[in-house]
Amino acid sequence: MTRRSILARAPRLLAVAVLAVPLAVATRAAAQGHAAAPAADTAKKSLYSRLGGYDAIAAVTDDFIGRLATDAELGKFFAGHSTDSLNRIRQLVVDQLCFATGGPCKYIGRDMKATHQGLGITKANWDAAVKHLVASLDKFAVPAAEKGELLAIASTLEKDIVDAAAAKK
Ligand code: HEM
Repeated sequence: MTRRSILARAPRLLAVAVLAVPLAVATRAAAQGHAAAPAADTAKKSLYSRLGGYDAIAAVTDDFIGRLATDAELGKFFAGHSTDSLNRIRQLVVDQLCFATGGPCKYIGRDMKATHQGLGITKANWDAAVKHLVASLDKFAVPAAEKGELLAIASTLEKDIVDAAAAKK
């Protein structure tokens, strides 16, 4: 029920409340009003939609991977990959972010632990990568709320991406 229709019904509910069983009706009206307002007012679009959909996520991913691959310290992790392999990684990251933000994609890559195990990614490497992600999100002027939500999703991956043995280096 929309706020408008609640307001439209309000006089009738008030009349019933006065004439019949005030407490019960008033309570129900209050409950209806309370239940209806969030549904009408705060129904949120998915993070995927709010970020601008697939193309926006692909653009951020391209920028992010470009920054990782050309970083003086992090570039070594991507050295030796063919262009096709890098494109494959890129596509899997796009699909993963699309899926994780509520978009219409399936992620068919490996899990994050298996993917990154043995690479020796340190906590410092992770922090540097997050800075690059923030820079990419800022470049595309992603608003603070959406930026925060995406970074929160990324942070859930840290424990699987950072090498346990290298985590404290
Ligand atoms: C938000 C953080 C990250 C996400 C979402 C992410 C996601 C992914 C995905 C989806 C893949 C491909 C999975 C597959 O092949 O099935 C991948 C591969 C890879 N990632 Fe990440 N990654 C992240 C951070 C990092 C960082 C910080 C590094 C290194 C500095 C890194 C290095 C790599 C490398 C080298 C590969 C290729 C592994 C291989 O060839 O087998 N990733 N990543």
